[in-house]
Amino acid sequence: MTRHFLRDDDVTGAEQAEILDLALELKRDRFGTRPLAGPQTVAVIFDKSSTRTRVSFAVGIADLGGVPLIISTASSQLGGKETASDTARVLERQVAAIVWRTFAQSGLEEMATGTTVPVINGLSDDFHPCQLLADLLTIREHRGALAGLTITFLGDGASNMAQSYLLAGATAGMHVRIASPAEYSPLPAVVADAERIAVKNHGSIALFTDPDAAVSGADVVVTDTWVSMGKEEEKAHRLTHLGIYRVDPELMALAVPDALFLHCLPADRGYEVTAEVIDGPQSVVWDEAENRLHAQKALLVWLLAH
Ligand code: CP
Ligand code: NVA
Repeated sequence: MTRHFLRDDDVTGAEQAEILDLALELKRDRFGTRPLAGPQTVAVIFDKSSTRTRVSFAVGIADLGGVPLIISTASSQLGGKETASDTARVLERQVAAIVWRTFAQSGLEEMATGTTVPVINGLSDDFHPCQLLADLLTIREHRGALAGLTITFLGDGASNMAQSYLLAGATAGMHVRIASPAEYSPLPAVVADAERIAVKNHGSIALFTDPDAAVSGADVVVTDTWVSMGKEEEKAHRLTHLGIYRVDPELMALAVPDALFLHCLPADRGYEVTAEVIDGPQSVVWDEAENRLHAQKALLVWLLAH
């Protein structure tokens, strides 16, 4: 059966570790693995803007010997003109895999149902699992192991990044803390899934409203934009209500002394994070952005082999 990667918990802890091990190998020998030689094509579809996802998939597919076909929804028949399912029926006969950045998670599920090539979530409203592979790879490179580490995400707890941290962190056996106002809490169903996975992997899940308590003793501090794509109309309300979750040097000082700072980017300096932190010595955001390439190549190689 074709494996897809629509959510972070589409892989087990062992499989996640296997993908991250492979990512490290591919990072060491960037051009030595060419499963897409032919060349085979991978479709990469965007309903939303992107810099990192677009570049890292395009470069990664080329590194693997393939050809990236970047499709903007606005200039395709997707997006109201043709269903995701019909689009998948057409693409699967010609491409080796489909990557899709979209709004509703349900669209990805429709795209993947019955499709014979892997479908990869390049970000949805609910999850950003490719980013999490890169984040976990970065944390592993800097800290050696993931299990047992405490990671705190601050800001929009209902965002794709927060919810992916819940699932991917739990899968990795981490202690995941989300600090957000109650109105921006993660979906209860995602929290329940993360709790179930965390118990299995000896991790834990905790939700906070107090940013100081959430960061206290954390090994990794993470934030993301307060205004995710699609939420632009709520910008004024969000900037007012998320202000206390800004990551500044005082907040970072509550974490362990050498705590890492991560941000998937793009960042709004002065809002969710101050320039001192994101441009400071604890920040690993540029490694994190580079690791999108290595992590997604590993994901593609792994999915194509399964
Ligand atoms: N982090 C991330 O997904 O960036 P892009 O929106 O630029 O792809
Ligand atoms: N949460 C952000 C991530 C961007 C990469 C968004 O969805 O806009």
